[in-house]
Amino acid sequence: MEITFLIILSLIGLMIGYLIIKPIVLLLLLKLQLGDKAILMFNPISGILGVLMQSIKTNNDVMHTIYQALIKNPKAQVILSNYLATPCIILTGSEYLKDTFRDHYDFEKIDPFMVPQFAQRGLLMIEGEGWKRQRAFLGSAFTFEKLKSRLPMINKVVNCITEQDDKKNLTDFMARITGEVVIKSFFGELAEGFQLEGKDAQVALTQLTGEMQIFKLESLYYFLKSLIFREKMWEVFPSKQEKDIIKRVTNVRIKVKELILKRIEQLRENPIQNQDSMVFLDIYVTEYLKQQQQQQTQKEQLIEIEEILHQFITLFFVGTDTTATTSGTCLYYLAKYPEIQSEILQEVQDVIGDNEINESNLNKLLKINALIQEVLRLRNPVLFTVFRKVKHDKQVQDIKLKKGWVVVQMKNSSSIKDSHFDNAIEFNYKRWLKKGNLIKNDNGFIHIPFAAGQRNCIGQHMAMMEARIIIALIVRKYKILLNPAVKQVRFGIKLLQCIEPDNCLLFEKRI
Ligand code: HEM
Repeated sequence: MEITFLIILSLIGLMIGYLIIKPIVLLLLLKLQLGDKAILMFNPISGILGVLMQSIKTNNDVMHTIYQALIKNPKAQVILSNYLATPCIILTGSEYLKDTFRDHYDFEKIDPFMVPQFAQRGLLMIEGEGWKRQRAFLGSAFTFEKLKSRLPMINKVVNCITEQDDKKNLTDFMARITGEVVIKSFFGELAEGFQLEGKDAQVALTQLTGEMQIFKLESLYYFLKSLIFREKMWEVFPSKQEKDIIKRVTNVRIKVKELILKRIEQLRENPIQNQDSMVFLDIYVTEYLKQQQQQQTQKEQLIEIEEILHQFITLFFVGTDTTATTSGTCLYYLAKYPEIQSEILQEVQDVIGDNEINESNLNKLLKINALIQEVLRLRNPVLFTVFRKVKHDKQVQDIKLKKGWVVVQMKNSSSIKDSHFDNAIEFNYKRWLKKGNLIKNDNGFIHIPFAAGQRNCIGQHMAMMEARIIIALIVRKYKILLNPAVKQVRFGIKLLQCIEPDNCLLFEKRI
């Protein structure tokens, strides 16, 4: 009996030592070294995620705790937290951001999906030479000419979905639009009628990727499993829900692969000659077929069907919710500030009237552009970059990062500082309409909503174009109102920072 008791006690002691004492000692030593430059936010086990969840509970705002700490201590450049038992260094100072964005090869991204054979070989996650090759290759799908050619499709998608959707759930409404734009940009006409799980593909995929993230945030059991076992978590005592998700992922893979194979056969028979009319998949398949031919003359095959599959999932994942949430937050601010809504409506009427949005009038939507910039400054849906692991001991400014530590870049932290923006915490979209330098003490890493350096967002121009069209076409047709039945609107988190609850807005048709 006594021995059992002693064993249990020692185990508890070991756990406390590993999960609490080890990280806190390391973090305290760093705090001692950095003084006011560092804010300590240790949270046993759940780390910075625990801080964010607590902030939602107590302040209805996921960023409140962190923003208050940064405002209280303007000298702060880093937040010291933990990722289970490992120190997690959250970089907020722009010089630290600059160095780590520049040296991106020294850090390895931690897979946010943690689902095997899902998106690891797509552009967001791939590393090294594979990343270089993909980035250069995918660049041709995001050229100005290619983006321009998608304008009529985006107009059509926004109009159709705005007409069909009941608009009772803001997240779903926005994601139906942005998901369909990604699917059509990737598959083109092949996407017509593309269904998954008996639903429109973008609805099924948005639900699946959403569920995969939410259930990890909502249950400590899943959260811990994901931290400890990573992508193997799905094999460790899988629950019914986990088995269901893996089954659905397998099904998505089969269906998407079928479409890719179909296009390979089509283009083998009839290659496309006009580069400008190629969608993402055509660009990929054309190169795949070219490489297959060259392989016969002994050149190594670089693109595989598996990579095309992972690329589709990647672009869907990073291109749907990000743009949807940004647009949804813009609509929320229009409902909150009716005077801004009137100004935006006036601009839409003056610039586009009853016409479609095209290349020439898109760039004249200056107020809408300013509105989006202000939302990206204060309420960027992507709070942090993907968490990264330090590959080897590395000095960043005055911090000696150890191999295996976790680093994350909080790229929007300068947004709330008066040293960089006048009345920084005030929502004022007009600041972006002023001529001259609106960012003070700018080292180029103060307003970086799409990250910076070589691994910045490849889809940023597409996102800005889409969001402008979504806002313009919706405001032209509907008056956007706060739903009086919703007593408390909050900034929550569903992997991305978003406005909640989903029924917080009403859309009243303009006559
Ligand atoms: C408002 C909308 C968007 C925001 C705020 C946003 C933000 C970001 C950020 C912060 C990163 C860096 C992630 C990291 O390194 O951890 C990133 C990367 C990326 N984004 Fe976006 N994004 C948006 C829309 C899009 C769209 C529409 C697409 C494409 C359809 C896209 C494709 C990508 C890809 C492929 C990467 C990885 C690039 C690389 O590692 O080389 N994003 N995005």
